[in-house]
Amino acid sequence: MAEEKETKKLAEEVKEEEEGEQVVTPWEVASGGGKEGGKIDYDKLISKFGCQKLDSSLISRVERLTSRPPHVFLRRGVFFAHRDFNEILDAYEKGDNFYLYTGRGPSSEALHLGHLIPFMFTKYLQDAFKVPLVIQLTDDEKCMWKNLSVEESKRLARENAKDIIACGFDITRTFIFSDFGYLGGAFYENVVRVARCVSFNQVRGIFGFSPEDHIGKIGFPPVQAVPSFPTSFPHLFSGRDNLRCLIPCAIDQDPYFRMTRDVAPRIGYQKPALIESLFFPALQDPYFRMTRDVAPRIGYQKPALIESLFFPALQGESGKMSASDPNSAIYVTDSRNDIKKKINKHAFSGGQDSVENQRKYGANLEVDIPVKYLSFFLEDDAELEYIKKEYGAGRMLTGEVKSRLIEVLTDMVMRHREARAAVTEEMVDAFMAVRPLPRMFD
Ligand code: TYM
Ligand code: TRP
Repeated sequence: MAEEKETKKLAEEVKEEEEGEQVVTPWEVASGGGKEGGKIDYDKLISKFGCQKLDSSLISRVERLTSRPPHVFLRRGVFFAHRDFNEILDAYEKGDNFYLYTGRGPSSEALHLGHLIPFMFTKYLQDAFKVPLVIQLTDDEKCMWKNLSVEESKRLARENAKDIIACGFDITRTFIFSDFGYLGGAFYENVVRVARCVSFNQVRGIFGFSPEDHIGKIGFPPVQAVPSFPTSFPHLFSGRDNLRCLIPCAIDQDPYFRMTRDVAPRIGYQKPALIESLFFPALQDPYFRMTRDVAPRIGYQKPALIESLFFPALQGESGKMSASDPNSAIYVTDSRNDIKKKINKHAFSGGQDSVENQRKYGANLEVDIPVKYLSFFLEDDAELEYIKKEYGAGRMLTGEVKSRLIEVLTDMVMRHREARAAVTEEMVDAFMAVRPLPRMFD
């Protein structure tokens, strides 16, 4: 008995320690309650993960290169971090192309507003730079993590593809694939190249796996890694082995691509082994010394990344909007009434508890979810500033801000629902067909 108690206590201590720590993995996002209002500390994430801050000079460069105003997600700092995005722009400026890669793990029937963020942004990048895009649906991942049957995961992948297509991607430049459908051939060859470069200790360090996790999870990360390499798509990029890849995603996916970037230079080109005979020896050796020296340096290109904040849960900024908690999320399938009810009932308010107090003290904008949501989706900069000023000074009430937010979100969701209703099974097949995209850079 005593022993059992000890172990329980130990487990609790470990848990307590973790509670103070901010946790961000592809499966869990928690602020640990550290910062004011229990918010996620994104500066700390940047330094912990080792990515770079996306500064205003990069945003001006995007504006110049694309000759269009930067997306609202750039202006407002929603996409706030990157890895080598500057190199993508350098190359593009010189006339070199790149391709986009993003994805979705089909764990729920419909996407929520948080999921829309990388897809809306990717659509903007595709239009602005006129580049091809691959979208991975990791039905295998969700099958293994969410304990779904293979059939159910495949069904959800197709359903999610409809929501993704509804974001408006250009079919002449977009290839959508599901892992269950596409894994094999050149793609699988790359999976194996990556897999043998990563030890169990490394994935444990990067993803927090434990020896109790089943081996499917431990073996999965290379599958999400290899769409970063153009050779995984011979029907699209054959003969363009050095095409660079840019990945838009929220920062929870960073661990996968830290691993990918670490491995990339080590795969692709093998050092030739030499067996030199007595009669044909040192003469040729300098050539191969050179080859062996260069080979590791001309490995696969590292993917570049552009990473977003999390669209917060209705309850507040200590967590992300997540499909695993339906009360935290607004889905793209929600009705007008659902949206209204969720915002009014669940959206955490920084307003005061009575009209008198609100008039007197104003709202705490730092913790107010309706203002936060408006900063993602209300495009008019002047109106957003006005709301912040009036609400912060107490001249506007929570109810008024919430009703403006309900308008903005209802409008967006209704437009999305219409677009989704127009997506047919044939369109899904067409986007997912393994086919060349002959005019993908035009
Ligand atoms: P998934 O399905 O969990 O999420 C899909 C995309 O949405 C982002 N995301 C969010 N962004 C902002 N706010 C939120 N609250 C929020 N929740 C999710 C995710 O970062 C992701 O970009 N394993 C991946 C699928 C995947 C992938 C990729 C994603 C495969 N390859 C390449 C990005 C890039 C997954 O389960 O994503
Ligand atoms: N893992 C995949 C699946 O379960 C494909 C696969 C790999 C497979 N090896 C296999 C299927 C052997 C059957 C037999 O669908």
